[in-house]
Amino acid sequence: MVGTRRAAMAANTVAVAASGAVSEAVACHRSHAFTSQMCAGSRWLESQRPDALFQDPLAFRLAGVSGRENAMGSWVMVPRTRFGDDVTIKAYRERGCRQLVLLGAGMDARAWRLQGVPELRVFEVDLPEVFEVKEPVANEAPYLVKSRTVIATDFEGDRGSYSKLPHWASELELTGGFERDVPTVWLLEGLMMYLSMEEQRRLMQVVGELSASGSVVFHDAITESYGTAGVEVGGARFKEGSDDYGREWAEHISGGSTTVLDITDIRVDRATRSLAVDMRATVGPRECQHRNLCLFVLAEKP
Ligand SMILES: C[S@@+](CC[C@H](N)C(=O)[O-])C[C@H]1O[C@@H](n2cnc3c(N)ncnc32)[C@H](O)[C@@H]1O
Repeated sequence: MVGTRRAAMAANTVAVAASGAVSEAVACHRSHAFTSQMCAGSRWLESQRPDALFQDPLAFRLAGVSGRENAMGSWVMVPRTRFGDDVTIKAYRERGCRQLVLLGAGMDARAWRLQGVPELRVFEVDLPEVFEVKEPVANEAPYLVKSRTVIATDFEGDRGSYSKLPHWASELELTGGFERDVPTVWLLEGLMMYLSMEEQRRLMQVVGELSASGSVVFHDAITESYGTAGVEVGGARFKEGSDDYGREWAEHISGGSTTVLDITDIRVDRATRSLAVDMRATVGPRECQHRNLCLFVLAEKP
């Protein structure tokens, strides 16, 4: 897998020049960062379908050659991306959310593609290498949102102390202009499974601390046993998961609610180009125990 990717990387450094010079992303070298290009590769594939559930006009270029050749599975990318889109638009309209923070943003292009959210301020947090690859390509295109700010960090090495905010969160407020009293959508897509439970809990604590009333969090995750299955994606290993994300979030969204869904219960409805989701079909610790499930977790602050 890594060998294939390396081979593809050399070719990938070449800018595409079909009609005029159109630059495209070089490949990320660190495995975790590379998974973001695999995700973009999948969004590029979906965007070409006549019955696509979303359009991502930057995906081709952000994926680069190696991301397109190693696209992430559509079974997770299509429902996850559309679910995140739907959560964001609904929270913007119904909960007054005017900030979107993408933790592990990768090659996400919502700042360029989400329609109908002109007052949204977007903050992207990820490894420095991701932005070194992404910015030269993405910055050529105009945003559809109010603003976009990027913050480079490594969640593994940015623990800080429990009484102080980690570096990325201080940056978000001090230099990014993030406002704690503005309801916020937090999207952590494809991130949690690459972190330990201690690192995930730290993120949950900080997200809770920075979230105004009305804020919403969506992330995918894996169950506890899945975390021990030795799964590797693009060379990046799954670390840990939990069978009880409802309990994990409870103390950070006091009085709020957490919905945990099994991804296999979410249907991609091509006929209507939407997701069929039964939000009452939640899975608890008993359903998760000893099973390798991919979960969608939605935590809402009242
Ligand atoms: C599978 S990709 C998902 C990217 C994006 N959210 C999406 O759905 O397209 C995982 C992302 O998490 C980021 N990530 C993983 N571990 C990280 C860490 N320790 N610190 C910062 N970012 C990390 C990677 O760089 C990558 O961009």
